[in-house]
Amino acid sequence: MRTQVGIIGGGPSGLLLSQLLHVRGIDNVVLEKHSREHVLGRIRAGVLERGFARLMREAQVGDRMDREGQVHEGFQIACNGTLDRIDLKGLTRGDTVLVYGQTELTRDLYEGRDALGGTVIHRAEEVEPRDIETQAPYITFRRGCEAIRLDCDYIVGCDGFHGVSRQTLPKHRVREFERVYSFGWLGVLTQTPPVSSELIYARHERGFALCSLRSAALSRYYIQVPLTDSVDDWTDERFFEELRRRLPDQVSATMVTGPSIEKSVAPLRSYVVEPMRHGRLFLAGDAAHIVPPTGAKGLNTAASDVHYLHEALVHHYIHGDDGCLDHYSERALARVWKAQRFSWWMTALLHRFPERGDYDQRLQETELSYLRSSDVARASLAENYVGLPF
Ligand code: FAD
Ligand code: DHB
Repeated sequence: MRTQVGIIGGGPSGLLLSQLLHVRGIDNVVLEKHSREHVLGRIRAGVLERGFARLMREAQVGDRMDREGQVHEGFQIACNGTLDRIDLKGLTRGDTVLVYGQTELTRDLYEGRDALGGTVIHRAEEVEPRDIETQAPYITFRRGCEAIRLDCDYIVGCDGFHGVSRQTLPKHRVREFERVYSFGWLGVLTQTPPVSSELIYARHERGFALCSLRSAALSRYYIQVPLTDSVDDWTDERFFEELRRRLPDQVSATMVTGPSIEKSVAPLRSYVVEPMRHGRLFLAGDAAHIVPPTGAKGLNTAASDVHYLHEALVHHYIHGDDGCLDHYSERALARVWKAQRFSWWMTALLHRFPERGDYDQRLQETELSYLRSSDVARASLAENYVGLPF
């Protein structure tokens, strides 16, 4: 088999890049380890920046998102029994975010790939990028009993944090930056009306909580839990009891609960690998960097990588100019680090860090009180939350 760009990973990064390249006439093949149903079964991101939405439209898959996605003009921060609204629209130049689930967006991308006749190979096993330092890289993989070789001009690793692509980079040519946290997020999806029309991020002495949503009838809730906890430790009853304790009374009192239709624990991690390119292998999205989910930046940062990379590949194939490809890593990382900073900051602002002492606790309270009192601080939060330009 031969193609121009071989893409490893059929999550949002890989599919969006594939669709954008196809629209510009650049041939590509996506290799995905799991079935489509499996990929669509993962409940993850919910908040999209405008830049992401713009890319979905450019990829000709934005219609349903525009119809069904909810524009959010602000969100709430709950602390000490009170709610404080961050007016995203008012604090930025009219910017907002879109609440539209990663599952829906991935479904739209798969449908877009089908409509254009794109090639997405599912259940591709033992995928391995090869000869990435040469002009003729290729990918080998297995599908059932068949061993297949895919020759390409470039390989893009969009295979998430646990993928194979990053492992292919020679250890002595890369630098890794990492912070791990001693807690995770336990997430629950329920078929119930959301407790609030806007997201509520809650700081509480028992730990962080988040009230989010997918639609008028679908709620997504998270609570901070120790990393040692598993979903089996948390019945629905225990989950909602704990969630209620972490929210202001006026919120808890109106919360409608129901049986969970999904429940999972996500560990929190900050991670970046530099550079995001070696030879003819490029990395994009979670394959190259991870943020704790607090600022809703993971998927949105994947989108900016895809933007820079697709633009660079268009410059190469259509204008014969390799300048953007050569600067891809540098450009992408500049924005990646800003998302790292913001996600770390918002995590530090709202979570309970059991290992830290009274001094850190006071600093956290002071940061929140500063945020309540300063329009400049609120504008900085809003500017980052709606997404820095790319
Ligand atoms: P992935 O979604 O991980 O996709 C990688 C794909 O590669 C997968 O389909 C995988 O099966 C495949 N793959 C892996 N290994 C191989 C292999 N060897 N061969 C072939 N295929 C392979 N982000 C936001 O922006 N906003 C939010 O509100 C938000 N909320 C979140 C909430 C939670 C609880 C979590 C866990 C994450 C959240 N994120 C959020 C982050 C977001 O979900 C990720 O950043 C996003 O999924 C990254 O997309 P990706 O395509 O780069 O990687
Ligand atoms: C959701 C996830 C996030 O990480 C976040 O900051 C906001 C919302 C969600 O899954 O809805």
